Amino acid sequence: TFFHTPEYGSFEMLEQALIELDGHGAIERITLPADPAYPERLRAAREANEREPGYLFELGEHEVVLPGFVDLHVHAPQWPQAGIALDEPLEVWLNERTFPLEARFGIPEGGDPTGGDFALPIYLDLVGTLLSRGTTTCVYFGSADRHSSEVLARACAQLNQRAVVGKVVMDDPAANPAFYRDASPEQALADTEDFIAAVEQHAARSAADDPRFPGLFPAVTPRFIPSCTETALRGLGEIAQAHDAYVQSHCDESQWQSGVARERFGKSDAEALADFGLLKRKAIMAHGTFLLDGEAEIFRATGAALAHCPISNAYFGNAVCPVRRIHDQGVTIGLGTDISGGFSPSLYDDIRMAVMASRILEDGVDARVPSEQRGAGEPSRISAVEALYLATKGGGEALDLPIGSFEAGRALDMQVIDLKRPFADLTGNGVFTSPADQLERILYLTTPENIRAVWVQGRQVFARG
Ligand code: GUN
Ligand code: FE
Repeated sequence: TFFHTPEYGSFEMLEQALIELDGHGAIERITLPADPAYPERLRAAREANEREPGYLFELGEHEVVLPGFVDLHVHAPQWPQAGIALDEPLEVWLNERTFPLEARFGIPEGGDPTGGDFALPIYLDLVGTLLSRGTTTCVYFGSADRHSSEVLARACAQLNQRAVVGKVVMDDPAANPAFYRDASPEQALADTEDFIAAVEQHAARSAADDPRFPGLFPAVTPRFIPSCTETALRGLGEIAQAHDAYVQSHCDESQWQSGVARERFGKSDAEALADFGLLKRKAIMAHGTFLLDGEAEIFRATGAALAHCPISNAYFGNAVCPVRRIHDQGVTIGLGTDISGGFSPSLYDDIRMAVMASRILEDGVDARVPSEQRGAGEPSRISAVEALYLATKGGGEALDLPIGSFEAGRALDMQVIDLKRPFADLTGNGVFTSPADQLERILYLTTPENIRAVWVQGRQVFARG
């Protein structure tokens, strides 16, 4: 039984579905029991499995399937500090905690270019953890160091997670510490070009070796406007356009961040990013917590997408992103954990927080203010099923990739949920058995224990013992 959200706002349950794949791990055909061809196709598949064990994968009685999650925003070198110092303001947390940690991922010129010693074990642990939580596609910030960011890209390819990876650019000497910044805007742009070439080469080799390689893509990655010079921002925009590359950055995460763009350029964050050529299709901007209506219109018009990171927003935005309003304005939105601005590697936690935060926004947040003076009274609530869409097909749209739902032509990325694992019986104990209730229980109560297997591009990449 497969649950998915082919359209925003509703779900579909495919009961007893037979899903057949092509040689690249994409869905070729889905047959349901009502189809007269079903018995014959199932019989043929079982027969083929006799000759070739592993040809057919049949689920157990208490197992159901969700699409693999798409995490649109992770800072890989921050994995060791997940959960630490989440009571600090963003600027303090960046300067005192985050930059010293990320700087350790620098591989000195002439050092081991495989980056083995420090970066590789951390990156393998992170990618493996995300896979085990059901994240089959992930968009990563590496560090400012080009070589260790390549180590991250290779770790994703090695573990068969579909990934978009960027070498972070932060070149402004007025904004970044001497121990952690690009040597110059020219060096930052040259490193970005070299990084793109290296990742594309690794991806091409991997795809040539393996017909079910899930994909590896470089991203142009200005950290955010406050950390980059104008020369770097303009140059990165040009590189992104020339390569039709992914772009990732942060936009309107906090009032402080929005204020920096206004002060430096006399524009909103989105206007400034757009003027540098950094908002376009395949551009993913984290947060948008303080995005104004005019800025949302720039996102819609350029095709840029938003990575909604509700847990992180509570800590570093001190605010709730009006995700329903922005969605209704026609902006493409997916979900991100923002490790380690968000503490959790599981998008289940962000699905839950997305619903909670949207409800807090609906009636205003300060109970001391009389209710008629709170907020605009505009509906802001989203449902768990809408949040599931953001975590799956919304992410696929943001990346312009055929992923996130069970439909012909899309990659088979899935997580197999065991409804009967101890400590979290998700069956509703036989009381709540409608498909809608069942799906909501799965979204709210699934623990890592329940995620029995994870598949990417038609291949099992994780199994719980
Ligand atoms: N803005 C610039 N860099 C970062 C980062 O690493 N995390 C978060 N949450 N915001 C940022
Ligand atoms: Fe972030």
